[in-house]
Amino acid sequence: MNTVETERPTLHADVCIVGAGPAGLTAARRLTQAGKRVVVLEARDRVGGRTWSDTIDGAFLEIGGQWVSPDQTALIALLDELGLETFTRYRQGKNVYLAPDGRRELYTGDMFPAGEKVEAEIERLTGILDDLAAEIGAEEPWAHPKARELDTISFHHWLREQSDDEEACDNIGIFIAGGMLTKPAHAFSALQAVLMAASAGSFSNLVDDTFILDKRVVGGMQSVSERMARELGDDVVKLGQPVRTIRWNADDAAAGAGVISDGLVVEAKDVILAVPPNLYSRISYEPPMPRLQHQMHQHQSLGLVIKVHAVYETPFWREKGLSGTGFGAEELNQEVYDNTNHGDERGTLVGFVSDEKADEVFRLSAQERKERILRSLANYLGDEALEPVVYYESDFGSEEWTRGAYAASYDLGGLHRWGPYQHDAVGPMRFACSDIAAEGYQHVDGAVRMGERVARQILEGDGS
Ligand code: FDA
Repeated sequence: MNTVETERPTLHADVCIVGAGPAGLTAARRLTQAGKRVVVLEARDRVGGRTWSDTIDGAFLEIGGQWVSPDQTALIALLDELGLETFTRYRQGKNVYLAPDGRRELYTGDMFPAGEKVEAEIERLTGILDDLAAEIGAEEPWAHPKARELDTISFHHWLREQSDDEEACDNIGIFIAGGMLTKPAHAFSALQAVLMAASAGSFSNLVDDTFILDKRVVGGMQSVSERMARELGDDVVKLGQPVRTIRWNADDAAAGAGVISDGLVVEAKDVILAVPPNLYSRISYEPPMPRLQHQMHQHQSLGLVIKVHAVYETPFWREKGLSGTGFGAEELNQEVYDNTNHGDERGTLVGFVSDEKADEVFRLSAQERKERILRSLANYLGDEALEPVVYYESDFGSEEWTRGAYAASYDLGGLHRWGPYQHDAVGPMRFACSDIAAEGYQHVDGAVRMGERVARQILEGDGS
């Protein structure tokens, strides 16, 4: 250790966890329940990572991850364990579809009123994706005989190989490109799209907003992490401690590691890196990580999306018989939903501006961006949307300890090339985050599953 490090207090633990998001804290919870001494080092001055609630101009907003779907059984079990309740998203009334030609149609059910031909094509493409998701699965998509073929073509071009109907292809794209991976459909592979669908049970589940965006946590999703951290206590969870260096012994994993943050040194037998893959390289490893990880980690990147919050004195759309749900592949906000808080008299809308559309509006001034985004909300729900009492844009892309949203995916060809190794331990270090989950991939549920998985491996002394 150098002199600066010797001035820092040294803590001794069985396991040191880097990152106090849902994955890191779930691992910490399971390990302390089993009697292990754990220290969690968190860079930010708060827990929760990509789940974060705050009161902005008097409005309670969920700035990060919030929704829970019925298949997310690991998260649902944890909510039960923590005594947290959920409530159902408002969705009575008609949804709005904005067609590429500017047509505005009201509808109910899953299928956009895009006209008979386009609807039939959407249904056919949905069937193809459902079949592939069922056949390939989320656990080891790279192991399927079609993996290489599907991983070396972009989702955009693969869709156009299946269909010459642009409107149908664009509408399918909403649910995977803009809606989930938050990258343009030309930037990731068809295999990555199939993983996204399989991780939620099927592509049909992703399309079904009553399924995938079913419930929210009363008090916000961040309270999952806050509750776990409170139970673990300040001796375990250390805030404001960005980890800068990990020293480990490449010849002897059992020798453990020294984890060095800005204010602490933690000597531990096992280390869990519970941060998104794009941030692994923010830490210096001595000796360096192996070549395989160096390469792999450069090909996992986060998408980009602005989560837009607009709060109104009343949920005016409900009075017009509208659910607040709207879709439009060509719109700035490709999706919009009623996001009114539990027991709140005011009405809140949430919209999403993804990937290249986000690039475009980030080039504008804040005022111009707000006007463009509100105009788009008004296209769905009426001009009342132009005058919110509170307006806020979640921008995780500018957060030092995240750098994008919602989560990471591989670039073209990366999933079958590196996916098989993404869970491998490196010496005493293991990896846990939603970005490398199978079920619940990209979601809080996947983070919980990954946290539980590495905790189990450590408890079983299993190096896999
Ligand atoms: P997460 O990123 O949450 O936590 C990692 C932690 O590590 C952070 O606290 C970070 O500060 C810390 N860290 C990083 N580097 C460090 C270092 N060097 N030293 C110490 N600490 C370090 N999911 C869902 O289920 N439903 C939803 O509705 C949504 N919606 C959504 C919207 C938005 C805007 C975002 C950004 C994300 C979502 N998500 C979501 C995704 C969900 O929030 C995400 O999958 C989980 O929070 C991931 O949890 P992890 O613990 O894996 O990482």
